[in-house]
Amino acid sequence: MKLIVGMSGASGSIIAVELLKNLRREDVEIHLVVTDGAALTFKHEINFDLEDLKQLANFVYDVKDIDTSIASGSFKTDGMVIVPCSMKTVAGIANGYAENLLLRAADVCIKENRKLVIVPREIPLSRIHLKNLKELAENGVVIIPPMLTFYNKPSTIQDQIDHVVSKILMQFNLPSIVPEWKSR
Ligand SMILES: Cc1cc2nc3c(=O)[nH]c(=O)nc-3n(C[C@H](O)[C@H](O)[C@H](O)COP(=O)(O)O)c2cc1C
Repeated sequence: MKLIVGMSGASGSIIAVELLKNLRREDVEIHLVVTDGAALTFKHEINFDLEDLKQLANFVYDVKDIDTSIASGSFKTDGMVIVPCSMKTVAGIANGYAENLLLRAADVCIKENRKLVIVPREIPLSRIHLKNLKELAENGVVIIPPMLTFYNKPSTIQDQIDHVVSKILMQFNLPSIVPEWKSR
């Protein structure tokens, strides 16, 4: 399997780190693109070097490099995950404003009918954010907000992260980290 992973400047860099580790474990070929906003947010919220994160990917692209494989529909992939996904990036995708490589790769996924999963994060959400998210949902984009979950009785933040990462993995038929839900 070949996936594009985009990171933009919303809070939640740790979710991307965990996703990349899991994709790596499943032998997925990872094509990574990180916006400047994502690099800044990453620095603020996580004790993990961005360069170490890039080591988890098979290919890493400069967000300004529009002239590269993932900018073209002729480069076949199994889809893309944007995690975390800022409201600016949501707006860009919803309006076809592909002014950087991450936005262009997402635009390509939509036009080629490939799976696009986003993990958008903002609180509270404005009508503008919701309008843009609705536009994406209507175009087949899978929206996985990193919401807290309690029915699984989490005891750590890691439990919450694993839950979100599992929801992403399941979209690509990859093994989930958390067990299937069974009501007692
Ligand atoms: C520490 C930090 C946290 C941020 N968290 C969010 C967030 O959760 N959601 C969001 O939409 N923007 C957030 N932002 C703002 C975006 O990073 C900013 O709008 C940026 O221009 C997004 O650009 P990008 O989508 O190209 O990465 C945050 C910025 C910083 C510095």
